[in-house]
Parts: sequence; structure tokens; C-alpha cells
Amino acid sequence: MSMDAAAWNSLHRVMNTQDGPQRLTKETLKRIGGFAAPHKRRLIHFLLLSVVSACLAVATPVLAGKVVNAIVDGDSRSKVFGIAGLIALIAIADAALAIWTRWLSATIGEGLILDLRTTVFDHVQRMPIAFFTRTRTGALVSRLNSDVLGAQRAFSGTLSGVVSNLVTLTLTLVVMLSISWQITVVALVLLPVFVVPARRMGSRLAALSREAANHNAVMSTRMTERFSAPGATLVKLYGRPDEESVEFAARASRVRDIGVKSAMLQSVFVTALTTVSALALAVVYGLGGFYALKGSLDPGAVVALALLLTRLYAPLTALASARVEIMSAVVSFERVFEVLDLQPLIREKADAVAVPDGPVSVEFSHVTFAYPSADKVSLASLEEVAMLDNRGGVDVLHDVSFRVEPGQMVALVGTSGAGKSTIASLIPRLYDVDRGAVRLGGVDVKDLSMASLRETLGMATQDGHLFHESVRDNLKLARPEATDAELWSALHDARLDDLVASLSDGLDTIVGERGYRLSGGERQRLTIARLLLAHPRVVILDEATAHLDSTSESAVQEALAVALAGRTSVVIAHRLSTVRAADRILVIEDGRVVEQGTHHELLAQGGRYEELHRTQFDAGPLDQSLPG
Ligand SMILES: Nc1ncnc2c1ncn2[C@@H]1O[C@H](COP(=O)(O)OP(=O)(O)O)[C@@H](O)[C@H]1O
Ligand SMILES: [Mg+2]
Repeated sequence: MSMDAAAWNSLHRVMNTQDGPQRLTKETLKRIGGFAAPHKRRLIHFLLLSVVSACLAVATPVLAGKVVNAIVDGDSRSKVFGIAGLIALIAIADAALAIWTRWLSATIGEGLILDLRTTVFDHVQRMPIAFFTRTRTGALVSRLNSDVLGAQRAFSGTLSGVVSNLVTLTLTLVVMLSISWQITVVALVLLPVFVVPARRMGSRLAALSREAANHNAVMSTRMTERFSAPGATLVKLYGRPDEESVEFAARASRVRDIGVKSAMLQSVFVTALTTVSALALAVVYGLGGFYALKGSLDPGAVVALALLLTRLYAPLTALASARVEIMSAVVSFERVFEVLDLQPLIREKADAVAVPDGPVSVEFSHVTFAYPSADKVSLASLEEVAMLDNRGGVDVLHDVSFRVEPGQMVALVGTSGAGKSTIASLIPRLYDVDRGAVRLGGVDVKDLSMASLRETLGMATQDGHLFHESVRDNLKLARPEATDAELWSALHDARLDDLVASLSDGLDTIVGERGYRLSGGERQRLTIARLLLAHPRVVILDEATAHLDSTSESAVQEALAVALAGRTSVVIAHRLSTVRAADRILVIEDGRVVEQGTHHELLAQGGRYEELHRTQFDAGPLDQSLPG
């Protein structure tokens, strides 16, 4: 085996080193290819231009050698000028090509980032609630930001480098070998000296950058969690700010140490390479000079070889570090694919139908349900646990059957943890039942289109979430086309119009993250206003009036009474006044319907409801003042 072939082989090995999780698998490559496919034309265009520009890069040293020969041979001036002019032309063409290829690689890279970003956003949006209850927002957001960016780097940054450098390297070697294979081989003897440590350095650098990425992710998760209004409140109340700061500082300083270490590793690497190439240059001048003196090589060839050699080691440097970059880009791709591979458990059927027109019934038929286990809905890396819990969840609902006739109101009562909220969450398909069926207007919710489901249902919960946006935007979420008059009317019905009118910016007032500038009761009334605005045919209230004091509750109760009139509703309430107004009451216990009937029927039965009624219900002044 010739010397240069050995060098090539070892170089090849550097490029293909596979260690640990950085495996560049066929599938990953195929999928990356899938994302690159729409940019195929530009890619080909780009590759062709890279080849042209590599050829130009090799042409200049060869021409320089010719100038030297022309000088030495005492050729005509016009020949020297002609070659010099050609070198100038090449320089200009090279500049134009550089800009052109950069434009191509940038459009490909940025196009790729756009595709990846929108795909991941779209995918994550469709994940079931169970996914979000498990993942840490910070980890997910960093997946969307830094990993998508990292994946893009593979294209706009590295791909261009690798391709043009490989072409330059090959061409340079070919030309050098054709000028003098002996000198080329000797000059390359030093190559393994550099290639072997480069390999080790590459994996060391990759390990360091992975560690830094982990620390960074933990830090950003910390920050997103701690620096939100509820998180900060918790830290103020129970947190140990000093310990938190110490831990944060420890991670941050580790990131600093890693930064310094990788910078040094890289610099040692680059310096070593520069030295090796300088030594090789000495070899070319020495050996080349020797041959030239002997007369077996012309002086121009020595100059050309020396110039070519400098172009040989430059792409080598780039290629050696490109490997690390490509590998980390591949890791980013894999981390993005990992999220894309999570199949949403709850999906719309291809032939999904709309909820039938008119008043709708809600029906539970022998519903059994367990919250899905972690391994079905999440990723260990997003939950930030080493291993996902794969234990099957215990059944939370057992054989639950009931029916709410169109226009009727059913109240669910029971102790905390009985399964009321779980029942409520099955209607909008936040979760899917394991056995049995939930039907809306007689159609299994699994057969309904998500859009129709959203349009039909309105749900308000105890901790009604508000986005960090204006009152108007928060309301319009329910109905983007609503006019201001409609907004005010909904606010009026939720008894919130006076408050909003008194705010300096009115409807444009920003309600803080999770609506923190509003009190619990005000926030709840705003979510009720949002619900009213949507005019849903089926209303689900999960302790939606829990935060209200009796004055505002009675006001909201009135509004709800109007809003609920003629609508099918499932109401979970802690207040007797709400429960008593229901057409039917279901008593839920340990995930089962244990009693059902009207208030009076159930009281007369003297069972569980009667007991709850005595011990649990907060029979406020309003209830006492009402006749039973
Ligand atoms: N996201 C969840 N994952 C796993 N178990 C849950 C989840 N939410 C609630 N549970 C469990 O389901 C049971 C019923 O809870 P829930 O329906 O919220 O009760 P209720 O609303 O009647 O107070 C409880 O034992 C609770 O611990
Ligand atoms: Mg609940």
C-alpha cells in the first residue's frame, strides 16, 4: 500500500469515527436526506459550483509555477503578463463564486431550519396533554431552538466546507502527485502524526460539548421554571435562594471550564497542524530544491508544489474539525427526530365527522380509563429522568356510564381525587378512554374531527389559564372574529365589564403570565367570559367557580344560568347552589358512579350524597337564603 493511500485511509477513518451515541446511522442519514430533498436542485447547483471553485483554487499555484518558469527561462514579457492576467481573472471569478455558493448554502440551510422548525412546532402542538404534563417546558423549548439550529449548521456551515474541502484536497493531491510523486509522498509522511491525535481530540471535544449542552439545558430549564410568576412565588415562599445560586454557579462555572478547555484543545490542534504543515513546507523546499539543482525538476514546479501544499493542509484542518461539527449536528438532528418520532396517542381519524347539528347529548358508556404511562407519551430526555416509567397506570375510572340529555345539566360531585376532572377531560379528548366510549350527540368522540369537537365544547377549569397577552387576545382565542361589542357583552355576562373598563388600557391591558395581575376570581371570570364568547353547545365547568367569593359567585352564577340555558352541561362544583340547580347529580367515588338522581331524590336516599351534603358542601349564605 502506498504511503498516500495509508494517509487517505487514516483520514477516512477520522471522518467516520463512530463513538457512543454519535452514530451516524443509515436511517438518520436517510431522514436528513428527506429534509434536504426539497432543496435538491440548489444542492446540486451548490456542489457543482464547489467543484468549479476548487479547480480554480488549484489553478493559481500551477500558474504561479508557470510564471516562475517563464522568468527563469527568460520567456517573453507578454507570456508573463498573460499568466498574471489569468491569475487576476481567477481571483475575480473565485470571489464571485464564493458569494454565489454562500448564497446557495445559506438559502439551503435557512430553508432547512424553516422546514424543521415548522414540522416540530406542528408536531408538538398535536401532542396529547399527557405529553405536556410530563415534559419540562425548558427542555422542550431548547429542543426546538438550539437543536434545530444545530441541525441547520450541518447544512449551511459544514456541508459546504466538507464538500469544497474534499474536492480541493483531492484535486490538490492529484496535481501534486503529477508534478512530483516523490516529494508529495515525503511531504505527506508527517500526516499520520497529525491525524492520530486529531481523532482522539475529536471525540474528547464532542464529549465536552455534550456535557456543556446538558449543563446549559439544565440551567435554562431552571430559569424558565424559577422565573415564571408561579415558580418565583414558590421560591420566595419555600425556596432556598442561596443554595439555588450556589448550584447554578457550579454549573455555570463548569460550562466556563469546558469552554476554556475546548478552546485550548482546538488551539493546540490547529497549532500542531500549522506546525506540521510548516515542516512539510520545509521538506518541499529542501527536497524540491535538491531535485531542481539536480535538474530533474524545474523551479516553477517547486514553487507550485509549495503553494499547493499550503492548500492541502488548510482543507485538512477544516475537515478534521468538520467531523466534530457534523457529529454534533447529527446529534441535533437525532434529538429533533426523537421528538418527531413520538406518535401522538390521540389523533384525528382520516374520515372524522362533525358533531351532528342541534342540541347534543353527552354519553359515557362503560368507560374505563387509566392515565397513560410515561413511556407511551414522553421522552426520558424531556422529562429529565434517566428512565421512563413504564408501569401501566392504575385504572382511575371503572365502568362509568351516564347520559346527559341535550340541554340538560349534570353535576358531578365527590371527594377530591374521586375522578371528576378525569371524567371531564375525556369529553374534549384530552385523553382517550381505554375501554368503553364517550359519545357526543351519539357519535364516539374518537370519530369526531378535532375542529368540530373544539367548536362544540367549551370548558373552563379552576385554574383557567391566560396567555401573557391582552384581555382582548385572551378572549378572542375562543372566537378570533368576535367584535368588541361581543367581547364587552361576554365580559358583562361574566360580571367583569366594570373591572376591564376601569383598567387604563381597557381591553388592551396585558394580563401577566398566567394572568397574575388579576385576582383568582377575576381570572376565573375572564375564562368564563372566554367560554361565553365561544357559544359552545356543550359546556364543561370543572370547579370553574371555585375561586369566586359568594358575591361574585352569585353574579357569575346568574351569568352561567343564562349561558347554560338550553345547553348541555357537565358541571363539577363545590357549591351547593350550583349542584342543586342541576337536572341530575352523579356522585363519583373512587372512579365509579355510586349514586345518581336529583338533589331531593338523593337527599331522601340518605346515602353518600346526603353525607357529602352534610360534611362537604360549603353551603354559603346564598344557599341558606334560598328555599330548598
Ligand atoms: N395527569 C395525571 N396522571 C396520573 N394520574 C392522575 C392525573 N391526574 C389525576 N390523576 C389521578 O386520578 C385520580 C382522579 O383525579 P381527578 O379526576 O383529578 O379527581 P377529582 O377531580 O375528582 O378531584 C386521582 O387519584 C389522581 O391522583
Ligand atoms: Mg378535579
